[in-house]
Amino acid sequence: MAEILAGKGKSKYKIHITGKSLPKSEINRQIGLNNKVLIVTDSGIPKTYIKELRKVIKNRSVNVITLSQGEKSKSFSSYQKILNKLLDLKFDRSDKLIALGGGVVGDITGFCAATYLRGIEYIQIPTSLLAQVDSSVGGKTAINAKQGKNLIGSFYNPKFVLISTHFLKTLPENEYKSGLGEVIKYGFIGNKKLKKIIETNAKKIIIRDEKILKLIIEESIKTKSNIVTKDEKETGIRAILNFGHTFGHAIEAYNGFKNITHGAAITLGMVIASKISYFEGHIKDYQLDNVINTISSLGLNTDHKKYKYSHLKKYITSDKKVADGKINLVLIDKKFNAFKTSKFNHKNIIKALS
Ligand code: GLY
Repeated sequence: MAEILAGKGKSKYKIHITGKSLPKSEINRQIGLNNKVLIVTDSGIPKTYIKELRKVIKNRSVNVITLSQGEKSKSFSSYQKILNKLLDLKFDRSDKLIALGGGVVGDITGFCAATYLRGIEYIQIPTSLLAQVDSSVGGKTAINAKQGKNLIGSFYNPKFVLISTHFLKTLPENEYKSGLGEVIKYGFIGNKKLKKIIETNAKKIIIRDEKILKLIIEESIKTKSNIVTKDEKETGIRAILNFGHTFGHAIEAYNGFKNITHGAAITLGMVIASKISYFEGHIKDYQLDNVINTISSLGLNTDHKKYKYSHLKKYITSDKKVADGKINLVLIDKKFNAFKTSKFNHKNIIKALS
């Protein structure tokens, strides 16, 4: 069991990482004795997980709302459905929302919590590796609009995050690999210990060895919580968490957000950003090889050849990270620290994608 703190002042919260299923006394302490609970989950979450959670939170009013699995549930209509439920159940400011699921469930639950009665507390119980190492920590909450993803939302920290590797046993392989993409990212943007652990334990990571899973999650969360605590609203350092994301999002968008997972896309994005870092003289050729080999050692694809500059151009130039008409890239240096820059030769983007 490990505990990591994130957030500042009144919005400080605990991230509890365990190999066991659900720590009963901690969950109940976080909910409070007499408070009502609404669990938000989706149709892809095994029913046993919902049952387990209900059993742990006994003696309270517990309701469950199940969204359909997938990104389409991060919608106005799901948002309205959850808020109507909270109103019908007469939730007050002491009652709690619990997100039990992946990033979609976490993001919409957080946004409902942020806006219902101007803010009630919510607990994140992420069940996918991607949500465990990324979206459940840092308070980014959102729903999608027809004009784009995550365009309506707020920064609103959870009250508590419970990460249990127990949920990863049933996670489909492509989703597990998607999460690994984000784990590797933390190794490339500054967490040297994690980079070393990945380099020396690839086989154990692939077979989801319990001990190693806890370790890589813990290291990922240490980096994420450190960065988001320093820069809650992404006005500075938090941008480095987007290493690989400018190109990754472009690849996802080019695919119509189908046929490729977020992690697989940002993994390719990290390879592209590393190539640009090399062309710009920030890293050496063996360091670029190290990035590619580390990613491949976990069974993830590094071959981005089918995505040409002409395919990705319009998405790269409309990325959220474009400011004052300038494209901002997150690159890496020889010490494997990441930095955001708008100073680079645009031809190197074309070269990396040719
Ligand atoms: N997923 C990047 C962030 O939370 O800032």
